[in-house]
Amino acid sequence: MAFFNPFRPSYVQDPYPALARLRADDPVFRSRELDGWVLTRHADCAYVLREQALFGNDPTTASGGMRAHVEDARAKSPLGSAPTLGAADPPIHPRLRGLIGRAFTPRMVEDERAVAAEVAGTLLDEVPAGQPFEFMSHLAEPLPVIVISDLLGLDDDERGPVRAWAQALVRVIAGGELPPDAYREGEAAKAALLDFLRSYTERHAGDTSKKVISILVEAEAQGDRLSLDELLLFTVFLYTAGSGPTAYMLGNALAALLAHPAALEAVRTDRSLLRSALEESLRWDSATQVLLRFAHEDCEVGGRKIT
Ligand code: HEM
Repeated sequence: MAFFNPFRPSYVQDPYPALARLRADDPVFRSRELDGWVLTRHADCAYVLREQALFGNDPTTASGGMRAHVEDARAKSPLGSAPTLGAADPPIHPRLRGLIGRAFTPRMVEDERAVAAEVAGTLLDEVPAGQPFEFMSHLAEPLPVIVISDLLGLDDDERGPVRAWAQALVRVIAGGELPPDAYREGEAAKAALLDFLRSYTERHAGDTSKKVISILVEAEAQGDRLSLDELLLFTVFLYTAGSGPTAYMLGNALAALLAHPAALEAVRTDRSLLRSALEESLRWDSATQVLLRFAHEDCEVGGRKIT
């Protein structure tokens, strides 16, 4: 019988040997601890991600312990059960995506590229020349946070508080064992962020800067708009979903290059290789190790019955 425990420190350190063993022994594995199925074959994962009518994102459609856990966390959370982009199925997901998509045009993303390059340059200028420096705290972690703050349209003095409110809220959304203060702090953060978004909206009425908060406030599709709660939730998730994976991806990419000196040398010599090196690093050692999907009905994956 296959053995799989993703909570072991050795797994967290290097998950790939355990994943390779599981793929060989039991590629569609029923985990009692996780109360779910663990898929480790590319073809099975691709199938589940493609078959959106059979497998959804909304954890409240899960069976067993997962559903109870999510419902409990949402009942306690100051954000209640407002849906997020990443945890919603149709018709909620296409509605949110349609409205939020207004703010993320190819032009806007292209413009942000110049901001990201400038921020990276400024952060590197602050590092003492010729000295070793801590890559994560000096570059990889601050870079996406500053770029996302710019993208949202926040002034310098607004960035710290908005990020702190987002972090306080994410802590309680995640649920689990938390000190009682965490919920009080989450409630206070929600109230402060709602106040901020209301006053931001008033101050920036008619704003032509084309930054995300202003666009989302105005965004309308078929007479429908984002509510203030939905705008708040998206702001929170943009900060957290956007900054963590990007920072970890940068760290993993650098670690992979340092572990493969010939690849590092090739990229140093020919900068046109940089883009494909970064693309490849997303596959090589991903910052996101798990994707969750919930089966809407009994079905078969990789020759096993999923119930
Ligand atoms: C290399 C960097 C990144 C990686 C590897 C990554 C990966 C992911 C993955 C795997 C998901 C879950 C998708 C699913 O379940 O189907 C996700 C969700 C999401 N990502 Fe990223 N992402 C990255 C960068 C960003 C950036 C830069 C932003 C924003 C500017 C962003 C915003 C989001 C949002 C808003 C969600 C949905 C979260 C929710 O509502 O639950 N991500 N990302």
